[in-house]
Amino acid sequence: MLTNEPYYILSANLIGLAFIVVTTRGPFSYERSAGKETVRYNPGGVSTSLSHLMQKEGGTWICWGDGNNDKQHPDEISGNYRIIRVFINDRERRGFYDDYSNSTLWPLFHYFRERIKYPKSAFLMYRKVNHDFLEAVKKVYSPGDTIWIHDYQLTLLPAMIRSEIPDARIVFTWHIPWVSGEFFSSLPESEEIIKSLCTSNCITFHTELYVRNFLDSVSQITGESESVRGKVHSIPLGIDYSYYHRKSEALQRSPFHGDQKAIFSVDRMDYTKGLTSRVNAIETLLEEHPDLSGKFVYYMAVSPSRTHVREYRTFKSDLEMHIGRINGRFSTISWVPIMYMNKKLPESSLIGFYRFSHVALITPLFDGLNLVSKEFVASSRDGVLIISKFAGSASQLTGAIKVNPNSRAEMAQAIYTALNMEPEERRARLEQMKKDVSRHNSTWWIRRIKEVSRRG
Ligand code: F6P
Repeated sequence: MLTNEPYYILSANLIGLAFIVVTTRGPFSYERSAGKETVRYNPGGVSTSLSHLMQKEGGTWICWGDGNNDKQHPDEISGNYRIIRVFINDRERRGFYDDYSNSTLWPLFHYFRERIKYPKSAFLMYRKVNHDFLEAVKKVYSPGDTIWIHDYQLTLLPAMIRSEIPDARIVFTWHIPWVSGEFFSSLPESEEIIKSLCTSNCITFHTELYVRNFLDSVSQITGESESVRGKVHSIPLGIDYSYYHRKSEALQRSPFHGDQKAIFSVDRMDYTKGLTSRVNAIETLLEEHPDLSGKFVYYMAVSPSRTHVREYRTFKSDLEMHIGRINGRFSTISWVPIMYMNKKLPESSLIGFYRFSHVALITPLFDGLNLVSKEFVASSRDGVLIISKFAGSASQLTGAIKVNPNSRAEMAQAIYTALNMEPEERRARLEQMKKDVSRHNSTWWIRRIKEVSRRG
């Protein structure tokens, strides 16, 4: 990964052209086992999209060095940009990542009230790790740079930067849903978090609803939101459309065998993704339409995620139990309805699945945006998209079939409709979405971010 091109990066920083991007997850990590080093690309749409962007834009990316061999690569050049890794120990990881980020903030911002935990010591560790990121920012910052912070793991960083670099230009992009003001204020640390975010020059979300909810939270906590209204924007993240289009067009052969129709989904293993409701909908579909036995296969790819967090492990066992039950109930000697793959698919297979699936079934219970839905649209030949109305991308994807993921009957009906949709209607819906997704692509997104950050 290490190349010999530091000159471009340094000069871009000196004249203030490049972003200093700060995220928890980096683009990739190094793992060492049995004496051999391998590169692990991180799952999650945010790191995938930002790596495409950073290759084009250049700049510096500060992220967590979470791989077991990352300490050998604390500061490196990857193609067109520089990566600086922040290291935290196991105790810090538990408090910052497993507990406060993913057992308090994550369930809170996805309306899973019963899963929220409030361990005070975890917040202290969260603050400490945010401070470690501040130290990394200070080492690379030059006057004129734009510091672009991402997501719920780093909410305290804007205020920390503001107090040490008062005139820094800070852009904060929030990638998950933002809940109503009343719900957000139930968080004991809500005031510290919202005040910190408001020290940014601008804050971007993926939908108008999240913007309204954020302003509502500011009003509830501080008594007014007028002073921040002008710096809060809805700018939905776009994908590198031509990349997916080009790669998928080059594929000649379908990865699927036989003449069964292929239903496909790809997600992180997460209780917010609606995976259990989805397999239950397959059960309802087969109960209501026994003639569909042997006519389709649901290819369900689920990449491991947050495996140190107990809730995630319990969720995985529960999901696998449902898949086993449904497959046991409906399989025949020559057919299994759900083909479950618990691994991160290599990109080439993923794009093949996107390209040749008849139906993409993307039905999270809540999701900040959902980039998979856009990648599918860019890559698909003539597939039908079924999307949850609680995914941030749903409002942009006008040609999709929208469903409420909490209704098994509605989901089963949507799958049935998609499997039986006439080719002309399939193509018309897909064409409409291709136009929208290619227009609002990653280049559009970065241009809009730059526009608002200049104004902020
Ligand atoms: O999109 C939300 C998000 O939490 C990102 O911040 C993150 O990179 C991604 O999902 C994957 O989650 P994690 O980094 O915990 O594996």
